[in-house]
Amino acid sequence: MSELISVLDTVADRLVVPGYSKWGYRLRRRSWSDLEPGALHGTRAVVTGAGSGIGEATALGLARLGADVVLAVRDERKGEAARAGIVAAVPGATVLVRHCDVSSLESVRRFAAEIDRVDVLVHNAGVLPQERTVTAEGHELTFATHVLGPLLMTDLLRPLLAASADPRVVLVSSGGMYTQRLRADDPEYREGTYKGATAYARTKRMQVTLVPLLTERYAADGIAVHGMHPGWADTPGVAGSLPGFHRLTGAFLRTAEEGADTVVWLAATEPAPRAGRFWHDRRERPTHLLPGTAEEDVAAFWRYCAAAADLR
Ligand SMILES: NC(=O)c1ccc[n+]([C@@H]2O[C@H](COP(=O)([O-])OP(=O)(O)OC[C@H]3O[C@@H](n4cnc5c(N)ncnc54)[C@H](OP(=O)(O)O)[C@@H]3O)[C@@H](O)[C@H]2O)c1
Repeated sequence: MSELISVLDTVADRLVVPGYSKWGYRLRRRSWSDLEPGALHGTRAVVTGAGSGIGEATALGLARLGADVVLAVRDERKGEAARAGIVAAVPGATVLVRHCDVSSLESVRRFAAEIDRVDVLVHNAGVLPQERTVTAEGHELTFATHVLGPLLMTDLLRPLLAASADPRVVLVSSGGMYTQRLRADDPEYREGTYKGATAYARTKRMQVTLVPLLTERYAADGIAVHGMHPGWADTPGVAGSLPGFHRLTGAFLRTAEEGADTVVWLAATEPAPRAGRFWHDRRERPTHLLPGTAEEDVAAFWRYCAAAADLR
């Protein structure tokens, strides 16, 4: 990256709108090289929430690089439609659709038991509910979807990941996490007035906190865990959950494919990026920008999550 682009990149990042929008992506893209065609040939990738938006675009990007892709979806009709689109764009691609409701530990267990190989695991599924919703297993929905499900899935797939030559796990977080501190004291948002956007951002913060913890947990198995945020992309999720934001920012949102770029890059680039870090637009980013968000009680947070996800 030239020095000028590097400086502009950092300024755009800190000003948020220029960095997260399509302008940031398009500025940065100038200094990137194409990924090696066939970089993922002979590998198997699992992408959660791959029936739409960034997950679908990620699955397409991974298939383009030669990976076999498993679309882990809760709505199999959407999964089949995404599969058809990927196979039309990448003739000969192997794309499988499997049911998985990431917010349900039972569903995650069933899903993991059906998987026989995985080299790349992308935790992309995300939700922003308007009201506090509790899963059948008693967990607040954003916490179950963004934290517990990914945690259990990664742990159950650990032996398969450990058997891969270059296992990589990516957690798709959000720049919204910068606004929140780690709420180890109230991980399930039981206290105060529930706001969907706050629950979303808190659990996206938790994903970022998990990255170094999981990196350490799986270091002996050579499993690299990465966190990232996609910027602001025009997806069904944003249009449906944040209609006001979508109306306001529509003209400068990036495409889902542009949002997915760094996920695909983290999965495929060589040399492998440093594990345990947080990325946006192919560059490492800080995990804290605002005062008062410094990490506290990480150990208590981990204990709560490990018990709630029933990690062995
Ligand atoms: N778009 C952005 O600007 C933006 C910004 C920051 C972060 N992100 C993150 O990017 C990821 C993808 O979001 P998106 O914008 O592409 O939105 P999206 O189009 O709504 O995609 C989210 C996907 O997750 C799936 N999903 C939700 N809950 C699930 C569950 N319990 N089990 C399985 N799948 C589930 C959804 O499936 P259904 O179709 O069945 O609901 C949907 O396919 C999310 O983690 C989001 O937080 C997006």
